Amino acid sequence: MSSPQTGQKKLLATLAGSKTTPPPIWLMRQAGRYLPEYRELRKQAANFLEFCFTPALAVEATLQPIRRYDLDAAILFSDILTVPWAMGQKVEFLEGEGPKLAPIRTAVDLARLDGDGVVGRLEPVYRTVEQVARALPGHTTLIGFAGAPWTVAAYMVEGGGSRDYADAKLWGLTQPELFDQLLDKIVSSTIEHLSAQIRAGAEMVQLFDSWSGALAETEFRRWVIEPTRTIAAALKARHPGVPLIGFPRGAGGLLPAYAAESGVTAVGLDTQVPLGWAMEVLPPGMPAQGNLDPVILVAGGKALAEGVARIKAATAGRPFIFNLGHGVPMTTPPEHVAELVRLVRAP
Ligand code: CP3
Repeated sequence: MSSPQTGQKKLLATLAGSKTTPPPIWLMRQAGRYLPEYRELRKQAANFLEFCFTPALAVEATLQPIRRYDLDAAILFSDILTVPWAMGQKVEFLEGEGPKLAPIRTAVDLARLDGDGVVGRLEPVYRTVEQVARALPGHTTLIGFAGAPWTVAAYMVEGGGSRDYADAKLWGLTQPELFDQLLDKIVSSTIEHLSAQIRAGAEMVQLFDSWSGALAETEFRRWVIEPTRTIAAALKARHPGVPLIGFPRGAGGLLPAYAAESGVTAVGLDTQVPLGWAMEVLPPGMPAQGNLDPVILVAGGKALAEGVARIKAATAGRPFIFNLGHGVPMTTPPEHVAELVRLVRAP
């Protein structure tokens, strides 16, 4: 529903500082393998990157959860690792194993990365954004996204997922000049990539810093807050009024510093963040998003009803967007998402 006073879409009104009751809702990883229609569609592409780069398929995957649940926002169907791929790094998604990248470890590896051609190579992604923008209902906000520089660098150096990103951290600590160059390339590519999504029709953008919780304070400030600040400032200069949500997953006690210093419009809260604390320490009036435990969504029933009620009560005093504290798990029964949306929208 658009807000009656301004005619603005509900999610955008919240990001502009309005308290809306009930809150708008969308879910990280709302498209994907928990939906039978996604699993069916996915068969039409030989691999995950081809799926992301075929607009007809990516548009359909973006719209599937909107048709089922009429969420307040659609998030572009793509992946954070399209940026390293577009810089020329070898990236593969192996069935059941997650992403595999040819690790960046030397000055030679780094010099081979081409930060300038990213927007040209990601052209199919922007065509997807344009087509989704035309297809969405009038009250649905279109979200663009990218991985935040530390998280993307962690995958690029590590060569895939990792429990603690110790190799990426070690490389950053022992080769700080090279690591800074890598972060700079990711920062400029990310600015161009998000800017191209906005030109194509994204109405707000989110930066996923999925592994910010692996860092101590000094590195968190250098590798999470600083690069995010550069991106936020560039986007603000180029696209004034387009909101940016930062999601520093696992930031813990560094959340207030991130919120106050990174320049983001709003912050995403992971599942562990105590809401009462967050409501006190975040800058007054700053919109927040989150933080239902994804496993509570899988559980459903009483746990889900209580979880939703607790979050709605705790966040009533600030502009708030209902979401999970991380992505929708693959094992989620689709009807639990319908129930979640019903519970959030119930008065
Ligand atoms: O949210 C959405 O519905 C939009 C699409 C989206 C995907 N990935 C699709 C995807 C978004 C926003 C992402 C972000 C993403 N990708 C993150 C940040 C959020 C987070 O989860 O922390 C990260 C770290 C990645 C990297 C990534 N992509 C991993 C680790 C994996 C493998 C694990 C997995 O869940 O399969 C992917 C693959 C991926 N990205 C899939 C989807 C639907 C599954 C692949 C498939 O369908 O074959």
